[in-house]
Amino acid sequence: MQTVSTLVELRLAVDDLRKSGTIALVPTMGALHEGHLTLMREARARADHVVASIFVNPTQFGPNEDLDAYPRRMAEDAALLEAEGVALLWAPTVDAMYPDGFATTISVSGVSEGLCGASRPGHFAGVATVVCKLFNQVRPDHALFGEKDWQQLAVIRAMARDLDLTLPHVSNIHGVTTVREADGLAMSSRNAYLSPDQRTAAVTLPRAMRAAIEDIEAGDDVAGALMRLHAALGEAGFGPIDYVTLADASSLVPLAQAPDAPARLLVAARIGGTRLIDNMPVSPVKGEETQ
Ligand code: PAF
Repeated sequence: MQTVSTLVELRLAVDDLRKSGTIALVPTMGALHEGHLTLMREARARADHVVASIFVNPTQFGPNEDLDAYPRRMAEDAALLEAEGVALLWAPTVDAMYPDGFATTISVSGVSEGLCGASRPGHFAGVATVVCKLFNQVRPDHALFGEKDWQQLAVIRAMARDLDLTLPHVSNIHGVTTVREADGLAMSSRNAYLSPDQRTAAVTLPRAMRAAIEDIEAGDDVAGALMRLHAALGEAGFGPIDYVTLADASSLVPLAQAPDAPARLLVAARIGGTRLIDNMPVSPVKGEETQ
């Protein structure tokens, strides 16, 4: 695996790879876990060469967020990527990504606005801008992202569609199913912040979400199911809870009634100081049969 940290080296290395086949890009912020490694494996299945990026993007962190504390483990991450058969690691410095005078931001309205967009102002503009840059820098045939960041995936797809990106074309931006710990907690680099007690309590998040989905799919009142989920999180020590929302899976418009099209249950809540997010699919609920 080759590691590059300047744009000039990146362009040469990408041109070289392209001569012998297609390229799949997996953008990451490092602190890699099994969820990221699953993305690398899926990327290998889709293209001849995998390019991974590791860049802790400052513009997607708010002023009081965890940019400084975000885990950085470059040597360990590089070894993991090498073992997965990644061909090229793009690890730019902040100055290489945002040189002096950098002045452009991509803002995607609509899907960016609710949920994490409401509780993390500016976050999705930071994500859309850096991902657009990564796409332009690598010009991959495919790009892969975890479905754990469901709203991020919707924002990136909207950005690619609206800006007529061809490499990757929006249909080659792939979401990969969330990888979970044995007890159901979604894997996240931020799980490393949890104390043993917080980690034990954190399992309430996927469990209470599953219970709410069962209730909604069985025809229970949506508001009641969401209130019970909210209460279960509070009892387990979560707080503040940013949102507990049932939304249309594509538009992310919140739903007050049982869904009649694919939907998603999305939650963001803090335990201790750590903000966890998760989302799960909710099947459309069939209307009552008419006699
Ligand atoms: O999901 C992430 O790790 C980041 O938001 C991404 C897509 C690499 C952009 O910085």
